[in-house]
Amino acid sequence: IAANAAEVARLAALRVARACRSATTRRGIPPVLGFATGSSPLGLYAELTAMLEDGSLDLAGAAGFALDEYIGLPKGHPESYAEVIRRTVTEPLGLDPAYVHVLDGNSDDPLGTCARFEQAIIDAGGVDVQIVGIGANGHIGFNEPGSSLASRTRPMTLAERTRKDNQRFFDSLDEVPTQCLTQGLGTIMDAREIVMVAKGTNKAEAVAKMLEGPVSSSCPASVLQLHPNVTIVIDDDAASRL
Ligand code: GLP
Repeated sequence: IAANAAEVARLAALRVARACRSATTRRGIPPVLGFATGSSPLGLYAELTAMLEDGSLDLAGAAGFALDEYIGLPKGHPESYAEVIRRTVTEPLGLDPAYVHVLDGNSDDPLGTCARFEQAIIDAGGVDVQIVGIGANGHIGFNEPGSSLASRTRPMTLAERTRKDNQRFFDSLDEVPTQCLTQGLGTIMDAREIVMVAKGTNKAEAVAKMLEGPVSSSCPASVLQLHPNVTIVIDDDAASRL
């Protein structure tokens, strides 16, 4: 539990950087990262960028996999996660876009797209460190309540609460997509290490359920209780119901 947003970002970035270094040492190849969208990890990405600039982190040749994507936003839409990841991750971290994978939300073969994405993670040797946020309803990625704890990458219908929470990025609720593609909970759990960031009182209930409630698909993030190497960095407000 950190005192403020800057401290959340700093502590989480130290974890991610450590995981990247040990992945490179252990496997002898650049790290494979899992990226989340949403506002929560933006400070963490800024910290990683600063570490690259001061030489304490090296991501040359690193690969990345984004957690999720909306279905149906036109290519290049600023709120499509392909664009959000390009703007907030790929460019600031100087990653090769060819190595940063985002699910195609306009594919005419969504199941095939999801299966190929799973295979691409395997071909990359698995995710060394997965960065995640948490939805106010306990989702991770876009795995809404009711998701199988063993689920793989697949299409999903967004919960109304999620659409309302994400309405702030669009002009109206009508413009928020109703469907998405998301890595499954089983996919996320395959990462060797997971780092979660959460901030604010609107996350407090979900954080409490995730950490102190039963492992249950009614709070998808609770599956993280079963992961052997997960770090959760939250501010005082997100911790207020613990
Ligand atoms: C979005 C994303 C999640 C993210 C969550 C929280 O719906 N699909 O990956 O963790 O919402 O977003 P924020 O960090 O902006 O609160």
